[in-house]
Amino acid sequence: MKKNNEKPSILFIENGPIQVSGSVQISGQYGEKHTEEAIYLCRCGESKNKPYCDGSHKANGFKG
Ligand code: FES
Repeated sequence: MKKNNEKPSILFIENGPIQVSGSVQISGQYGEKHTEEAIYLCRCGESKNKPYCDGSHKANGFKG
């Protein structure tokens, strides 16, 4: 995993989520902010915790 000061990067994981890493600042709809080293965004459409991946892609056989 990347360290906090590395450049941001986006990786499409085969048959899984999009990994966004490199000190990602997340801003909520009410102005709250926090920073993550990496986040995983759902691209199969089945996560119960969108926009984040919850692992559902494994059970639904997502290919992409
Ligand atoms: S990509 Fe993991 S739950 Fe959708």
